[in-house]
Amino acid sequence: MADNGNAVMGAMPSILLLAGDGIGPEIVSQARRVLQTFIERGLFKATISDAQVGGVAWLQEGDPLPEHVMAKAKKADAILLGAVGAPQFDREAPRDKRPELALLRLRKELDLFANLRPARCFDALTEASSLRPELVRGLDILIVRELSSGVYFGQPRGMERMPDGSSRCVDTQAYSEGEIARITDTAFELAKKRKAIVHSADKANVMETGHFWRKVVTERHAKKFKEVELKHILADNCAMQLVREPKQFDVILTDNLFGDLLSDVAAMLTGSLGMLASASLGARDAKSGRQNALYEPVHGSAPDIANKGIANPLATILSLAMMLRISFERDDLATRIEKAVEKVLARGLRTADIATSQKPISTEAMGDAILAEV
Ligand code: IPM
Ligand code: MG
Repeated sequence: MADNGNAVMGAMPSILLLAGDGIGPEIVSQARRVLQTFIERGLFKATISDAQVGGVAWLQEGDPLPEHVMAKAKKADAILLGAVGAPQFDREAPRDKRPELALLRLRKELDLFANLRPARCFDALTEASSLRPELVRGLDILIVRELSSGVYFGQPRGMERMPDGSSRCVDTQAYSEGEIARITDTAFELAKKRKAIVHSADKANVMETGHFWRKVVTERHAKKFKEVELKHILADNCAMQLVREPKQFDVILTDNLFGDLLSDVAAMLTGSLGMLASASLGARDAKSGRQNALYEPVHGSAPDIANKGIANPLATILSLAMMLRISFERDDLATRIEKAVEKVLARGLRTADIATSQKPISTEAMGDAILAEV
């Protein structure tokens, strides 16, 4: 096994599975089977542990992210998360206990500032896209979203009472130079290994933070990444261009809120939100080389199809591939998974979300098919 910071010499890497709510448990259990298969065959070594987060954790322990789970998360070499949230909790949980807070706290406290969301269109799925096949065939975009700052976390936030007795509600968009610089560096470093084009999406025409974002990105580019092409694009135009001519993009660098929106758009181009994996990474510790890392499918908890055995486990399985590649430097195993997904799709196997003319198969059957290929 390759040595790396997250598997300190000799120590067994630890992987924490946080299945969460909705379809989370169903999809994570398929990724677990893949991981266990690698371990049983002696291809990979790791200890796997589980914990509850989100609405289930609130129900059982009164907290969507109990302290003991946070402590485990801080120690884990890598985390695989299913999804959090469901309408039941929107109705029943108080606002300060809502399931999404588990995710937001993990992002903040583990300082997971770099969210990588690749949107790749598998050949076999071009027909499942809502765009014409020629627009998406071969599509390969990487969205690099700032994840630990911006309007998701800016202070002040919340309700306030006005002198006239009426209410006002505030969210704050704030970015420091350092926060913009580090996500910019991440995007450019990744672009160097791809087509070397970065579109930086902001609202510099309206927002002060947008203007500042553009300034910092321009400076970093001039200072360190001249070999990469930088294009500034307004975030609204970026959304439009994504559905007009998506293949013009290579890496899209953007802030937390725009990244949330643009990654959903990009995801749908590939046929289904059910296919999109993601990695959320912290800074690498200069001394130990260790890096906090959480991997999760982009699609969310899909409560409408939970417990029916029909959810698509591929985004979670592909998130596991990202984990193996990024946290454990096991490109070989990651590629094995990705090739297996390609083969299974080419054979016409589809869960309901990506089926066009095929008869949909179950979550478990999709897991079986992937296991047979890896
Ligand atoms: C995402 C999700 C989250 C976000 C929610 C669940 C808090 O939409 O990861 O894109 O808004 O970041
Ligand atoms: Mg989102």
